Amino acid sequence: MQIAINAERLASELNQLASFSDAPAPAVTRIVFTEADLRARAWLKGRCRAAGLVIREDAIGNTFAQWNGSSPDLPAIATGSHIDAIPNSGRYDGTVGVLGALEAIRSLQENGFAPQRPIELLIFTSEEPSRFGIGCLGSRLLSGALDPHHAADLRDSAGASLEEVCRAAGFSGPLSSVCLPPGHYAAFLELHIEQGPLLERERVQIGLVSSIAAPASLKIVIEGEGGHAGGVLMPHRRDALAAAAEIILAVERLALSTGALDTVATTGLCDVFPGAINSIPSRVTLGLDVRDTDAARRDALLRDIEQTAQAIAQKRSLSVQIRLMNADRPGHCEPAILDALRRACEQQRVTFMPIVSRAYHDSLFMSRIAPTAMLFIPCRAGVSHRPDEFASLGDICAGVRLLAQTLANLAQ
Ligand code: GLV
Ligand code: MN
Ligand code: MN
Repeated sequence: MQIAINAERLASELNQLASFSDAPAPAVTRIVFTEADLRARAWLKGRCRAAGLVIREDAIGNTFAQWNGSSPDLPAIATGSHIDAIPNSGRYDGTVGVLGALEAIRSLQENGFAPQRPIELLIFTSEEPSRFGIGCLGSRLLSGALDPHHAADLRDSAGASLEEVCRAAGFSGPLSSVCLPPGHYAAFLELHIEQGPLLERERVQIGLVSSIAAPASLKIVIEGEGGHAGGVLMPHRRDALAAAAEIILAVERLALSTGALDTVATTGLCDVFPGAINSIPSRVTLGLDVRDTDAARRDALLRDIEQTAQAIAQKRSLSVQIRLMNADRPGHCEPAILDALRRACEQQRVTFMPIVSRAYHDSLFMSRIAPTAMLFIPCRAGVSHRPDEFASLGDICAGVRLLAQTLANLAQ
């Protein structure tokens, strides 16, 4: 089957989705359950309905849009990604896997393909950790990786619980109802931009993801003593931000000291209280993201960071509280689904190579309940989580065509 992709329609939809944003273009900010996210969801569901897909939403707002097969009782082939976007990011992260999957389904419909198994598009809630401090909320709950009671307790920076925020967004029901059993899906496929430079550098069109690096995150709260910036003399200070600065540099040094390029650690959040130029910071909250392809090495680094932060606090007579938000094992893609993707690459004569995902994805959790594989397309200079993130329409369409072909092969 020669699958024709409607590139113009897809480009126009990527543009429209990017317009639901709380940041001026080209930046995109779309935090889960904000007005921008809810408007984007409503628009997207309209596009899915226009394609004849039947929509269901669960208690956390994961959205399922199904194209029924001739054997509707068989487990579906699922595909999808996320549409939430971190502050000041780009327009391709996640959206290519959602709108690309919708376009793949429409292309198959327009090419006269009739699936035997249902094909289902999944749009996961809050793949990004921006609002509740941990990523992949929807797929964690769906796969049973996150205890619903623990999820219900998560709070955003305004103190609202995940359950309250879900309810306000129109999603009710217990979070325990989100979990799906292993075997519910026959396969899960996620199309995504690489978010790294390798495909572009190697001039290869498609990356077939073998594994997904193990992510972890920490929240560190440092409590010192505030005071007047003029009145309190230097030897008498317990400045929480000065301690935080020392901790941030230690995190960088410790990550470098593993000697492995696969170890990365980032302090991306630093909240200073009370936040006045003439007031000594009394409390600082840091958010750290720590990842490695080797989970044991990642865990050793987490322990080193914790010990070093405690030592710095002790030396400066401050207190420090460290909370491990998540420490997930790496994900592995399913060889049989990778084989299906490889066959589709050969059928379509596109170049491909194996690749490791250093970013995390909903596939990390879907791989716990379904045979899962990811395919990457190149993005310019490997740039992502920035407004200048870019993937060419040609590369996007090559990925979508390959996804469509693989969905068709697996759904027959
Ligand atoms: C996903 O956005 C990640 O941070 O890897
Ligand atoms: Mn992202
Ligand atoms: Mn993503």
